[in-house]
Amino acid sequence: MKKLIAVAILGLAGWAGVQTAAVHSADKITFTKQVAPIFQQRCEECHRAGGVAPMKLVTYEDARPWAKAIKEKVLSREMPPFHAAGELGRYQHDPRLTTDEISTITKWVDGGTPKGNPKDQPAPREWKTDWPFGTPDMVLKVKKPYTLKANPKDQYVFFVFDQVLPEETWLRSIVTRPGNSKVVHHANTHVVPPMLKVPEDGYFAGDFEPSARGTVMVSGWAPGVSPVWLNEGVAVKIPKGMRFGIQIHYSPTEQDAVDETQVGLYFADGIVKKNLRVLFGDRKDLNIPPNDPSYSLTSTKTFDTDAIIDFFHVHMHLRGKSYVMRMTYPDGRQEVALEVPSYDFNWQRTYILNQPLRVPKGTKVDFIGTYDNSSKNKFNPDPAQTIRWGEKTTDEMMQGRIFYEAADENLNVRVKKGRAVTETTGQ
Ligand code: HEC
Repeated sequence: MKKLIAVAILGLAGWAGVQTAAVHSADKITFTKQVAPIFQQRCEECHRAGGVAPMKLVTYEDARPWAKAIKEKVLSREMPPFHAAGELGRYQHDPRLTTDEISTITKWVDGGTPKGNPKDQPAPREWKTDWPFGTPDMVLKVKKPYTLKANPKDQYVFFVFDQVLPEETWLRSIVTRPGNSKVVHHANTHVVPPMLKVPEDGYFAGDFEPSARGTVMVSGWAPGVSPVWLNEGVAVKIPKGMRFGIQIHYSPTEQDAVDETQVGLYFADGIVKKNLRVLFGDRKDLNIPPNDPSYSLTSTKTFDTDAIIDFFHVHMHLRGKSYVMRMTYPDGRQEVALEVPSYDFNWQRTYILNQPLRVPKGTKVDFIGTYDNSSKNKFNPDPAQTIRWGEKTTDEMMQGRIFYEAADENLNVRVKKGRAVTETTGQ
């Protein structure tokens, strides 16, 4: 008897609910209809099974318990993570939400997080873990899968791959394919000179700054970052005898985890006109006083050719606070080319311009790095230290890179599978 009444009441409540929904359907924001498509587009990459984020945001049941935190993080623009300022549309693969999307999410939370009609839920999105540009010409693998020991702290390992390039090789792309996305936080690929002595196991664990050992960073990976496919006719020349290495930043993990991250090399084919160049801003004379909340220094470099800028990269360590690359054109006009207002060591990424930026020869670039060595910086392990340049993440660096093409370079090198070929038949 009791049961019957309960059913009747529930039924009634349900019916009343449908009535209200019908009346307000015009302004009611539901998960399935308006929110799920946004999450699928902007969050799922990381917030899904096997993604880097701690929780899934795929279904209503996944998202509902996080509603308050979601509202907070999207309003503060901490999520989705992206650290360059500037208009939406300036950079490729920019996951930032539009103000409309933020308002939709906020209204959904404020409106009591209604689920909506399950029929409105978009079809599940498939996440590929394949190589993005097809099978690479050369796949670099570590000696054997690496076992990451359970550790409440971040860990860093620099692996050196065995393969040696037997000839000078032109590359069109370098792609990182993280093995275990639960623990691979970010990874930077370097070209390793022959003289670097590598331990038997093929890696350096702990604080090891490869660039201080003669390597050159050539590609960066972080969650949500798409690899760079260089423009037609542009390639990167890797000298003969080089190997590659990858520095992997692993997240804290409660259980031992196995990782086998791979790097794919795509060789250039056809006519190479330009060798991708880098304008490199750097200072090694950092001397950051204890507790200093805003220590800045500038490195100034000049373009010695008309340049077409394709992408940027910034590298600082835990005290890094912000970074700016400011252009001064030959006519005196100034413009900020890249601004990273709140640098975060955890989210190193390459900022690829949608529209390449053309600058004339003689353009001066001020690379300005600013550091927070106070206790306000949540990443600061010890505000009482004076901080200088160094290899460890607890030391500092101030590297800025502008990747560009020389506007009138025309090398006209014919390459096949990455190797220069000389015409034997004459022309
Ligand atoms: C590129 C990867 C990535 C994307 C895209 C992303 N997140 Fe996250 N998110 C993370 C990671 C990693 C964490 C945990 C560490 C942190 O807070 O930085 C996180 C944490 C969060 C948290 C905080 C959880 C807590 O413990 O309080 C919320 C809320 C959140 N994300 C919401 C979102 C929403 C909403 C979107 C899309 C609009 C989104 N995220 C997009 C990677 C991502």
